[in-house]
Amino acid sequence: MQRTLLLTRICGALLLASTMQVWAHGDVTPQAIDITGLEPIKDSDTTWVDTNPYSGNEKAIEIGKHAFAQNCARCHGIDAISGGIAPDLRERLPLGQEGDDIFKERMINGAIRNGVTYMPKFDGIVKQEGLWAIRAWLETVSVDAPVKTAVPATTTPAAAAPVASVAPAVARAGEEVFNTVCTACHTAGILNAPKIGDKAAWEPRAAKGLSGLLASSVNGLNQMPAKGGNPSLTEQELSNAIIYMLGKADIELDKAASTADATTPTAVDTAKPATN
Ligand code: HEC
Ligand code: HEC
Repeated sequence: MQRTLLLTRICGALLLASTMQVWAHGDVTPQAIDITGLEPIKDSDTTWVDTNPYSGNEKAIEIGKHAFAQNCARCHGIDAISGGIAPDLRERLPLGQEGDDIFKERMINGAIRNGVTYMPKFDGIVKQEGLWAIRAWLETVSVDAPVKTAVPATTTPAAAAPVASVAPAVARAGEEVFNTVCTACHTAGILNAPKIGDKAAWEPRAAKGLSGLLASSVNGLNQMPAKGGNPSLTEQELSNAIIYMLGKADIELDKAASTADATTPTAVDTAKPATN
């Protein structure tokens, strides 16, 4: 599994390296960040501050959310929910100074080893103010972020809307899991993943039933990382995503699979004992 993940990373990195010089190929071009409304950082083009000046700043969080989507999400996942290509920043970036240090170091240096660019540097390409705004937003989605208390129904929903992805206690629906994790490969058929909606590609696989497909998803299969690269997904959430994906190909999985297996997906790795 490690090897597959590494391969995935290397493929991404090579792709990036080959287009980096020109900064012209769609997604790879870093996007300008509109920092209007943020208190400017003194000498921000030449000197880095050590501590995020915008921690908890509502305006910065809003700017950072968009800036992340434009510059980081293609590798670190939509809403920072990793799809397996780059580290999950909700888990890998602690709150406070320790996280600021890691963040600053990466923004200045990127991640380049043996001449291979795993992540480009952003210093000098995106303004420091915009980068710290991204950090301010990342703090709000950190696994260590204080859980937002429910907003009373009388306040406007607009105020509560943006920070939706704080550790959900209930299983996420198939569509949501798909759109945050599985889409990275299953929409365009990356690494030859069967595409969502492609009935011909899914039909032979559907013969494994939900429990068989769930087992592949939990453990990974060839180029597909375990749990699509997101270890926080539960088996329930993976099942939801599988049912959603195959539903789009007009395959009704819950009927194809034995319901007894579907409700107790415990024998994922081990061969089932003969019943007779
Ligand atoms: C081309 C893909 C790519 C893009 C774009 C990208 N990253 Fe990364 N990032 C990576 C990879 C891969 C790593 C792991 C590097 C390594 O293994 O050394 C990483 C590592 C990091 C780390 C260190 C995490 C740790 O565990 O120490 C941080 C912080 C980070 N990225 C933030 C960002 C931010 C913020 C952006 C957007 C401004 C961004 N990255 C854009 C691929 C990317
Ligand atoms: C990094 C790319 C990637 C991501 C992300 C990914 N998949 Fe896959 N997936 C693949 C590839 C590639 C295959 C084909 C594997 C093979 O048959 O060799 C596959 C196959 C599958 C299969 C068929 C397994 C079988 O036994 O035939 C299922 C089910 C599946 N993926 C579910 C998911 C779900 C659910 C998610 C999101 C939680 C997800 N995948 C995320 C790449 C990915």
